[in-house]
Amino acid sequence: MKIAFATGNKNKVLELKKILEKTNIQIIQKNIEIEEPRSESLQEIAITKANYAVNKLKMSVIVEDSGLFIDSLNNFPGTYSHWVYDKIGYIGIINLINKIKTRKATFKAVIVYLEPNKKPQIFTGEKQGTIALESKGVDGFGYDPIFIPKNETKTWAENPNSKNQSSHRQMAIKKFTNWATTNL
Ligand code: IMP
Repeated sequence: MKIAFATGNKNKVLELKKILEKTNIQIIQKNIEIEEPRSESLQEIAITKANYAVNKLKMSVIVEDSGLFIDSLNNFPGTYSHWVYDKIGYIGIINLINKIKTRKATFKAVIVYLEPNKKPQIFTGEKQGTIALESKGVDGFGYDPIFIPKNETKTWAENPNSKNQSSHRQMAIKKFTNWATTNL
């Protein structure tokens, strides 16, 4: 079956396609402009965007919303991660927490699957870790060069295998896949 993935982020599409390649679910990227509502809740944002995308595309859609939540910054940049990244990048984040000892952070992802005239299905994933003292690695995207997953020593940009196995997005995708293989 075909599902539209409403996103402009090719990296997210690749991550989703990789895990769904052994199923009968076919993901089609739809790079439609969706205005991001302002909210502290990833779930609320993803549901709003999914409703918009279904109305526009008239087919089943997946929307994913994610962000980096830093403990010592009261969960900033959180739902503003995309915007903050565009403004100050990961170097800006390193500078912001320069002298702060607690470097704990959590990546969160919410996937919403929505069929026309149905209720949204919601799948979440989280990955705990710390913000590195300096950026390292070249793989991945976004804040990957400064995120070190819990119990590891390398950033996701240095160790993409770790990201592929246990990222926030992978966790949410796996929950969606499990649900989809029995319900779709
Ligand atoms: P959005 O979900 O497209 O609104 O953007 C979330 C933002 O969070 C992205 O633009 C990235 O900057 C950041 N982000 C989300 N997931 C990841 C990830 O897996 N690695 C690095 N940065 C991420």
